[in-house]
This record gives sequence, structure tokens and C-alpha cells, in this order.
Amino acid sequence: MMDTTLDLPVLPLAQPEPPTTPTNATHTVYVETYGCQMNVNDSEIVLGVLNTNGYAPVDSADDADVILLNTCAIRDNAERKIHERLKALDHLRNGKRQRVVGVLGCMAERLRSSMLDTGLVDIVVGPDEYRKVPELVEAALHGSHGIAVKLSRVETYDDIVPLRTEGIAAWVSIMRGCDKFCTFCVVPFTRGRERSRPLQSIVDECKGLWDSGFREVSLLGQNVNSYVDEASNYDFADLLEACARAVPQLRIRYTTSHPQDMSDKLIDTMAAYDNICKYIHLPVQSGSDRILQLMNRTYSVDHYMKRIERIREAMPLCALSTDIIAGFCTETEEDHQATLDVMRAVKYDGAYMFAYSPRENTKAWKMGDDVPDEVKQRRLQEIIALQNDVSRELNAAETGRLHSVLVEGPSKRNSAEWKGRTDTNKTVIWQHVADDGGVGDYVVGDVVQVRITRSTSATLFGSLEV
Ligand code: SAH
Ligand code: SF4
Ligand code: F3S
Repeated sequence: MMDTTLDLPVLPLAQPEPPTTPTNATHTVYVETYGCQMNVNDSEIVLGVLNTNGYAPVDSADDADVILLNTCAIRDNAERKIHERLKALDHLRNGKRQRVVGVLGCMAERLRSSMLDTGLVDIVVGPDEYRKVPELVEAALHGSHGIAVKLSRVETYDDIVPLRTEGIAAWVSIMRGCDKFCTFCVVPFTRGRERSRPLQSIVDECKGLWDSGFREVSLLGQNVNSYVDEASNYDFADLLEACARAVPQLRIRYTTSHPQDMSDKLIDTMAAYDNICKYIHLPVQSGSDRILQLMNRTYSVDHYMKRIERIREAMPLCALSTDIIAGFCTETEEDHQATLDVMRAVKYDGAYMFAYSPRENTKAWKMGDDVPDEVKQRRLQEIIALQNDVSRELNAAETGRLHSVLVEGPSKRNSAEWKGRTDTNKTVIWQHVADDGGVGDYVVGDVVQVRITRSTSATLFGSLEV
């Protein structure tokens, strides 16, 4: 998961219907999203709520009456970035045109009224209070600041239609919150208790997405393995199966799995359906049992490695990625080497790698932050360098393989080249416009066959096979 501003591509695609601008639109709204994929879907939910209340979405803060930052609190630098952005937006807020600036999301939930005290924002809304955004915005347009940060045990926004403006791949939140309480993590505090949407509503959403042109969905939760349909007791594997059967051509992904609860049933369900993508994000965090225990991750390295073995037995070509934290409290050189050993043993296709950032009010906050910054950074760099080598090696081994690739559209650098993703979540680039000027006979959203001819650590390149 990333904590960068998401660079949402604008694609020349035909299929998904464009967002509807209400004919009675009175104001414009711009939402900027930081943090994880759940925040991306939450921004779509907020836009859905605002759209039905007469607000039209726009693509830039300059054009908007209402500017909302959907924020992340996972690491200190994520929050610092938001503060800088708010300062940069202040000239708009204090300009001639009347505008409202608001913060949503995890940082809003964590910092609450102190966000208002910065003098840079008019409204503060936590992740479970998005139904109140229209009334808070309305009041702010009339000069009153507002805050709504109550967490809920039941809110899932199940009845709200997210306003999706992007691509052919949709994010679908299947649950909210987290009950795992890893000692380093703010999410249980910013997102509250775990709660799941009913299975049938998720299946119906997948069907609706297919009918309106989407070709891939990612089912989202902080720990999808805890998903449960309360009424029927269906678990996450049941949900995956139900979605895979209901829309057999829809590509289905999910994130994130917790290694403790990655069940055989889930692995076997993935293996049984061609439209469930063979890609698993299984964050290990550390390769040292002592550190895993301090993190309250509730599994050992041995358990984790046995899960990896089980996955590979069932799905030999399944891609794997992970999250790793460098320099957690008391981490020794030996612990760090153990993390590198796990990386060498698993050979992840990709990894999100972070220096430990202590977060107030978490258990780990009280354990101190005793690994000096330069040591953390050095260890992080070693982790990144190793991952780059592994990614390069694994991608090189792709040469000659044939992949089914979901067409996403022109690559950023060169419009004669198009890109898409393999079932294993790797980006592939191929020549779309031939030397004689002819173009490929497919559109965004089709699946094409691409033979891999070369690669870098980040990207595969190939040629189309007809
Ligand atoms: N629910 C997911 C993780 C969500 S947060 C899971 O359990 O796997 C995404 C990643 O951010 C985490 O996996 C972790 O690697 C990282 N992270 C979370 N808190 C952090 C902190 N305080 N410092 C550094 N990295 C952190
Ligand atoms: Fe945070 Fe752990 Fe929950 Fe993931 S499982 S969101 S790391 S508390
Ligand atoms: Fe960040 Fe909140 Fe997601 S803290 S990673 S936006 S759940």
C-alpha cells in the first residue's frame, strides 16, 4: 500500500459511463486522495454522496468551490505532506472566491479538532461520518466550521453508489476497520472496529460494475481474511467464490491478507477459479520472530513460510508481494538480517518498504524508538536494493512467457505503446501502433495475449500474439 498522492490516469476509454453531473449542480468539488486503496474508494463514496446533493466533481483545486483532502496517518511523513499541501492551498481558501477546504480520512480522525486549530481548514470529517459531508460543507459555505469524527460499529456505506471516474478497474470495499492492533499501527484507532458488508450486496455490486464496463475489481479490507457475512456466516473464501461465479469474466483481486488467517480454503478457492487473479499481497513486516511478537503480528516466520509453501503448491505461478518495516523498536542487526533472509527465501515479486515511524497512542509508541535514523535508513536501503535485485531476476525469467493482459490504454511515455496488467499484477507494455501505422485490433478493457520479450525490475515488455 502506498502513501503517495495517487496519480489517477485519464484514459481514452469508452466503456464505463462518465460521472453524471447533476443538472441542478450549484457547486463544484475537488477531492485529492492520499493513503491506501481504501481511501481511493472512500473518496468515490464521498463524491457519490456529494453528487446526489448537487455538487459536480472537477479535476483541479483551482476550479473547485469545495476542496477536500482525503488523508492518511500511517506514518509521520504522510501527515507532514498533508500539512504542506494545506498551506499551499491556503491562498485559494483566502482568495476572492468563497471556498471551503476540508480534511477527511485517517488524519482527520486522529487529529480531530486540532486540525481546525491549524486555521487552514473549515471542516474535519472522519472515515465513518461521510454521510454528513454535504451538511458540513453547506454550513461551511455559510461561514461555520464543522467537525464530525465519531467512529461507528455498523457503518459500511453499503447503500451508497461510489462515483467512479477512473479506468476499467474498480475498488470495492468489503469491510471497514481493523481489530488486529499491530503495535505500530494507527489504523484500528483511525478506522475503528471491523465490520463487513453483506455478501449479496458485494456480489450485486460486482455484477453492476461488469454491466457498466468495468473489467476488474479489487475487493478491499485491512484484513480481508476477517470478512464475515453476519447473517449467513459466509467467510472471505465464500465471498470470493460467489463473486467469481456471478461474473465469470470479471477479473477479481483482493487486498490485504493477514498471514495468520490465510486459510487453506481461501488458497484452494483462488486456485479453483480462473478469474480470481493469481496474486497475493501478504505483508510479513519482519523476518524475526522476536520482532513479530513485539509487533503483535500473531504469527511466526515458520507459520508464514508454511503459508507461502501452501500457496505455491496450489498455484505455482502465483505472484506474491509484501510490506516490510525497517528499524522497529529494538531491532538488531541480526533481526534485520533475518528479514533479508525471508526476502531471499520467498523471492517476492514486489514489496512496499518503510522505515518505522512511531505513532502516538499505539503500543509501540511506549516501547520507544531506539534504532537511530541513519541505521533505519541504511537497513531500509539494503531491503530496497535486495528487492530490486529479486524483482529484476523474476522479471527476467518472464522472457518467453505468454500472458493474458487486460488492456488499460496508452503508456504514459509514448502513446504508440499501450499498457496493461497480467493476471499476476505485473505491468506490461507493447507496441500498439505498428511501423506501418496500423493499430492493434482491440480496445481498452479487452484481454490480449502478450509474449514477454524483455523486462526491467518494474516493467515487462512484450509483443502481441494474435
Ligand atoms: N492491513 C495491512 C496494512 C495496512 S498499512 C496489513 O496488515 O498488512 C500498510 C503498511 O504500512 C503496513 O503493512 C506496514 O508495513 C506499514 N506501516 C504501518 N504502520 C507503520 C508505521 N508506524 N511505520 C512504518 N510503517 C508502517
Ligand atoms: Fe494495521 Fe495490523 Fe490492522 Fe494491518 S492488520 S491495518 S497493520 S493493525
Ligand atoms: Fe493511511 Fe488510513 Fe489507509 S492511515 S493507509 S489511509 S487506512
